[in-house]
Amino acid sequence: MTRYKIAWLPGDGVGNDVMDAARIVLDRIDLDAEYIPGDVGWEFWKKEGDPLPERTIDLLRKCDCCLFGAITSKPKDEAQKELAPELQGKGFVYSSPIVRLRQLLNLHTNLRPCKAFPGNPLNYRDDIDIVVFRENTEGLYAGVEFHPVPKTVFDALMVHPKMKKFEKTSLNDLAISTRIFTRKACQNIIRQAFEYAKAHGRKSVTVVEKPNVIRETSGLMIQEAREIAKDYPGVELWETNVDAMCMWLVKNPQKYDVLVASNMFGDIISDLCAQLVGGLGFAASGNIGDDFALFEPTHGSAPKYAGQYKVNPTAMLLSVKLMLDWLGEKEKANRLEQAIATVIKEGRVKTYDLGGNNTTLEVAEEVARKYEG
Ligand code: IPM
Ligand code: MG
Repeated sequence: MTRYKIAWLPGDGVGNDVMDAARIVLDRIDLDAEYIPGDVGWEFWKKEGDPLPERTIDLLRKCDCCLFGAITSKPKDEAQKELAPELQGKGFVYSSPIVRLRQLLNLHTNLRPCKAFPGNPLNYRDDIDIVVFRENTEGLYAGVEFHPVPKTVFDALMVHPKMKKFEKTSLNDLAISTRIFTRKACQNIIRQAFEYAKAHGRKSVTVVEKPNVIRETSGLMIQEAREIAKDYPGVELWETNVDAMCMWLVKNPQKYDVLVASNMFGDIISDLCAQLVGGLGFAASGNIGDDFALFEPTHGSAPKYAGQYKVNPTAMLLSVKLMLDWLGEKEKANRLEQAIATVIKEGRVKTYDLGGNNTTLEVAEEVARKYEG
């Protein structure tokens, strides 16, 4: 019996390339684990009408955690066109498997560290070390959306005086996406951010919202942040509107420690933060629940590079590092991060984004060699 059972979900496009890189490293660091492959992605949408088949969810429930590659997501109409002819018109609707997994498995916390590794020529500055905590299951991603708007929903909304402006709009000419926050999820993500700050000696937690306009949902988040901050006298709470945050992150990114945001704002600022430290090739993430977690690079499936082993595996390897941390394999996690940092610093073996011409797998090999010392 191995110690860990890890679900292995490469998904689409370069997801496969970077997962092969992850495997090289995992085999060499000697993690006592079994990797169990699962089906997810575009191929299964086209063939089965479901990019996340039930059997894959069953597999995840049997595992300790999951390593995930990347997924192709397309807008509604495009997705519909690619469905197999025999599945057309049968009511299949595409929805992003990663968003579904986060909600289904209640992976409430999305952890996205963005650190400038010394020697990375793509660093915006060399002194950036930001960790984003993104709420991962609700907000604008709750999926409660209407188009056309059902009459009952429209009538119920008419109790709100601001709906007067839309009174004469036809139900078909109206689209509504809801932004749903629960106090519980707000408290959770803020608590995680503060706990992390405390444990890692960070001096501030910045809550990134827009309470001056989105009064109720952002307002709730800020209110909870102020409450929870009282439990952490050593950590300052900063409050910044999301638009201003984008400006400050370009102006003075080195001033920020831990950022916490709702789902959509967290999605946006985490891409911004990723670019400050070299782009999506360096952006790792952990989708963490109470007793299960899924680790994935933040980048997408980049179909045009699929199978070419060209893309930078660093984001994936840093996601493996987050997984090792979460499993409690601290020593392995630290050594792996050190090995990745050394490869970046030496700059000898590098992918095209860094001006090199090494393959995805050669970078992984080099990281494994450094790990072994
Ligand atoms: C991310 C991605 C996903 C998201 C997409 C692929 C659905 O952008 O993980 O940041 O929006 O959450
Ligand atoms: Mg994103």
